[in-house]
Amino acid sequence: MDDYYIGLMSGTSLDAIDAALIRIGDKGELEVISLLNTKFPEHIVIQLRNIISGNNESLHELCLLDTELGEIYANVALDLISRSAYKPHKIKAIGCHGQTIRHQPDCRHPYTLQIGNPSVIAEKTSITTVAQFRARDIAAGGQGAPLVPAFHRAVFSDPEQQRVIVNIGGIANITLLPPLNSKDTVSGCDTGPGNCLLDAWSLSCRGLGYDENGSWAASGTVDRKLLESLLADSYFSKSSPKSTGTDYFNLDWLESSYPSVTDLKAEDVQATLAELSARTIALSIIREGYDGKQIYLCGGGVHNKDLNDRIHRHLANAKHYTTDKLGLDPDYVEATAFAWLAWCTMEKQAGNLPAVTGARHPVILGGIFPA
Ligand SMILES: Nc1ncnc2c1ncn2[C@@H]1O[C@H](COP(=O)(O)OP(=O)(O)O)[C@@H](O)[C@H]1O
Ligand SMILES: [Mg+2]
Repeated sequence: MDDYYIGLMSGTSLDAIDAALIRIGDKGELEVISLLNTKFPEHIVIQLRNIISGNNESLHELCLLDTELGEIYANVALDLISRSAYKPHKIKAIGCHGQTIRHQPDCRHPYTLQIGNPSVIAEKTSITTVAQFRARDIAAGGQGAPLVPAFHRAVFSDPEQQRVIVNIGGIANITLLPPLNSKDTVSGCDTGPGNCLLDAWSLSCRGLGYDENGSWAASGTVDRKLLESLLADSYFSKSSPKSTGTDYFNLDWLESSYPSVTDLKAEDVQATLAELSARTIALSIIREGYDGKQIYLCGGGVHNKDLNDRIHRHLANAKHYTTDKLGLDPDYVEATAFAWLAWCTMEKQAGNLPAVTGARHPVILGGIFPA
């Protein structure tokens, strides 16, 4: 029997909620039925930025936002369903990633916090909701991230060829998929900043939340001294498993890594930040032992031509595609992944890859909030 699942994803970019309605057949075969992108209301973006940066918001505000986001996620799910030919009772579960507020997998008592109250989603939609996917992997000694590699393996692997999936959200992550016929294990990690520093610098210098096509970065020149200072951060030389967030890679990080950054030409800083993202993505792929020829990009970074060109230059021997070539819209890979991860949870199957996250063992991810 076919089952229908919804995935809801909102990443560190705070741009939107991506939603995917999928059908999964008996053997795990997957079909995307419909997709929806819903921008966050501006007041939510402002509150989230304040909370994530540790400014101006109280614990009470955080709890209010947890409920309000739950309502917003529920409305997105209902909106997606109403635009399809299906009724809510047909949907077996919603997999909701939630909004990351803090991600600290390496501290004394490791934790990760995603808000968007799943009880509110289950109540408002009458659909079983799976949420808080990352916490169990962390409880098992893992990074809780990235979680998409198991999905990448299920849908993007090739029997003969090695493939690399690069997801460029606020933070970038990579998955190295060995050929299905080989005994090699899947590897991957968060490589560091994807779009997050580009967005933050663009917002602070120009009041624009992102650099359309990367044309502002393309108008600048990479500052070698700045680039070297940023590349010296220990995150980049650390081997995997590793994961990070915008609670680390943000403008405070930029200014503390290079206090005279504001003396430089703003477009040169943007070019350097783009180069940093591209270089660290490419270096991570090489360090993870990549010797294949196929790179597939997904996430909002696929729309940044300048960033894509830079990645291309660093991995000049590879063929570069987006996941469109593998049948999945690059803007919705993560939303689809969280629908699939909810299916794993409902089927009592592990969704983490310990070789990627560093967890001691495979675990069933997330909590189930019944309809
Ligand atoms: N046309 C574009 N030009 C440049 N960057 C873009 C464009 N469209 C999207 N982006 C980038 O993609 C980001 C959103 O990517 P997304 O995959 O949704 O990240 P996240 O998972 O962190 O929310 C935006 O914040 C922006 O940086
Ligand atoms: Mg997004």
